[in-house]
Amino acid sequence: MRLGTGIVTGVPFTVPLAQLRKHTVVFAGSGSGKTVLLRRLVEEVALQGVSSILIDTNNDLARLGDPWPSPPALWEPGDAERADRYLRDTDVVVWTPRREAGRPLTLDPLPGFDRDPDDPDEFRAAIDAAVAGLMPRTNLGGRKATTGRAVLTEALTHFVRGGGGELRDFLALLADLPSGVSTVRDATRLASDMADGLNAEMINDPVFGGVGERLDPGVLLTPARGKRARVSVISCIGLPNDDQRQTFVNQLQLALFSWIKRNPARDRPLGGLFVLDEAQTFVSSRTTTASTQSTLTLASQARKYGLGMVYATQAPKALHNVVSGNAATQFFGLLNAPVQIQAASDLARAKGGRIDDVSRLPAGQFYGATEGTGLTKVRVPMCLSHHPPTALTEEEVLARAQGAAGDSSANPAGA
Ligand SMILES: Nc1ncnc2c1ncn2[C@@H]1O[C@H](COP(=O)(O)OP(=O)(O)OP(=O)(O)O)[C@@H](O)[C@H]1O
Ligand SMILES: [Mg+2]
Repeated sequence: MRLGTGIVTGVPFTVPLAQLRKHTVVFAGSGSGKTVLLRRLVEEVALQGVSSILIDTNNDLARLGDPWPSPPALWEPGDAERADRYLRDTDVVVWTPRREAGRPLTLDPLPGFDRDPDDPDEFRAAIDAAVAGLMPRTNLGGRKATTGRAVLTEALTHFVRGGGGELRDFLALLADLPSGVSTVRDATRLASDMADGLNAEMINDPVFGGVGERLDPGVLLTPARGKRARVSVISCIGLPNDDQRQTFVNQLQLALFSWIKRNPARDRPLGGLFVLDEAQTFVSSRTTTASTQSTLTLASQARKYGLGMVYATQAPKALHNVVSGNAATQFFGLLNAPVQIQAASDLARAKGGRIDDVSRLPAGQFYGATEGTGLTKVRVPMCLSHHPPTALTEEEVLARAQGAAGDSSANPAGA
């Protein structure tokens, strides 16, 4: 894929599709052209028949399905044709967790398990992941948390082996735990305490076991019939604070990881792309949040299964170094704050390059490097979908979420 042209050399800056498995980071501040770069990347990947999921924190990604009213002056030869093809063959779906007026998406805290899995380790890992997501919502602390976790693990194993079901069914089991399910003394009382906590969470947090389409990565990444790729934009308009966003992204990442393990890309160069803008919110270098562990797991393990991660941040210093250190492809764009410039320069040096004029780069110019190349200054092409200077309002995001795209007649996964 061509993602730019060398400013001095005129040489195309290309990244093999499979290289995106080894992840991409974009370090660039406001006005750098970061959104255009992320969009063009997703568009080019879609043109190759690969679907993406994007977390839209700034309402500037939900226009990925909008055509330009007239061709932008900055398009290069061939872009008009590419734009037509992208818009025709791509199914852009805007999701609005916690906003019923749009296209809500609900967290399924009990992933669809196989009752008789071939691989007991996988089964145990799926139970552990679900328990890890539930524990912080049970309100148990201290020593009780340890025994509570054991009870939850035993109860969930029992529940799933018995056929599973909805969260409310599981809470009914917990509220009145039959004897023999858990070996922990006091299990019945602990289980009923946890049922109370989880029930309160269901009331307080509509994304947790609430209304809307179940968050199923297979749906997010599977195009509707007749389309080649799906672009799922997950809008954060219904998740106003960082805490909610982190919790949501954590659940999404857990689900995505278990899905991609079951549906690996195998011999396809890339199975899907997951784009996390404002990545420092989700995996910070300073604090541990609800989404830290799952982000690190994906950053280090998703490549095996062919899922590519793209992390973008205006604050390279605030991004966890495992994430920045794991990315084979890197872009550095305009940065202003001295501490961020310093952090970016250190990261560039680790790539064997310098970004001395990073504080003066015009919009759309980046230092880019991928495996086997040094850093070169490149001009990134304008995106294929409409990107005016102003972000969408909430009403405009909701209108796109209600759009006809993405009907539920999607092909079964892998079709
Ligand atoms: N690749 C490009 N080629 C030409 N112009 C570009 C390019 N990228 C960005 N621009 C110009 O810069 C403007 C800002 O770009 P963009 O919205 O991508 O910036 P951003 O870094 O995401 O900024 P913000 O902080 O506002 O989100 C665009 O509207 C466009 O005019
Ligand atoms: Mg932007």
